[in-house]
Amino acid sequence: MIDNEVHSRSPHADALFDLLRSRRSVFDFLPDPVPDVLLERAIDAGRFAPNHKLTEPWRFTIIGPEAKQDIAAAWSEVKQRKLPAEASEERRDQARTAAREKWMSKPAVVAVSQALDDDPARREEDYAAIACAIQNIQLAAWALGLGCQWSTTAATRDPEVMRRASIPKSERVVGFLFLGYAAAVPEAQRKPLEEVLRRTP
Ligand SMILES: Cc1cc2nc3c(=O)[nH]c(=O)nc-3n(C[C@H](O)[C@H](O)[C@H](O)COP(=O)(O)O)c2cc1C
Repeated sequence: MIDNEVHSRSPHADALFDLLRSRRSVFDFLPDPVPDVLLERAIDAGRFAPNHKLTEPWRFTIIGPEAKQDIAAAWSEVKQRKLPAEASEERRDQARTAAREKWMSKPAVVAVSQALDDDPARREEDYAAIACAIQNIQLAAWALGLGCQWSTTAATRDPEVMRRASIPKSERVVGFLFLGYAAAVPEAQRKPLEEVLRRTP
């Protein structure tokens, strides 16, 4: 067991540990809009993530309302194409609505992309840096009272979605971040520390 009573030398420790442990991926949002200033503050925290050789490989795209509609429409078409030819009109309608809702139910959408380096080793490190940036954003959003979900569905690789999100071909989307005020916060699910920690003599 971790002794949470052990005192830290930093005045930030309690707040930070609370934030780290309480943050959850949020999947259900209230319809309330996210103030742009909060979105920018959260994204700004992303820039301070560690990044080897100071490549600052991240690019952030705030998806505006028009682009969100366009992406929702593109995604709806993708999902239609995946249905079997014999799918009923009702089934098609359901798929259309679900695909559209996936995007339209998210109050704010941010694409976090990686400027792709030619060197594979650098690319891998840049990808790790972007994962750190995304976690910074998630934690900053949580501190600002916002929930976030990191999404890596096939939409992050779909050329038409990329075009409508204004992502240049020189970049790869590492995640769409869905943000908003949480309608529900799931319970944490983690193995006990003892199961994942080993010590060498
Ligand atoms: C690289 C990465 C990709 C993820 N992609 C998705 C996704 O596509 N869909 C989803 O529902 N959650 C996605 N998640 C969120 C995880 O499902 C979530 O972190 C996990 O369930 C643990 O929940 P927690 O974040 O509340 O601790 C992703 C998380 C990471 C780190």
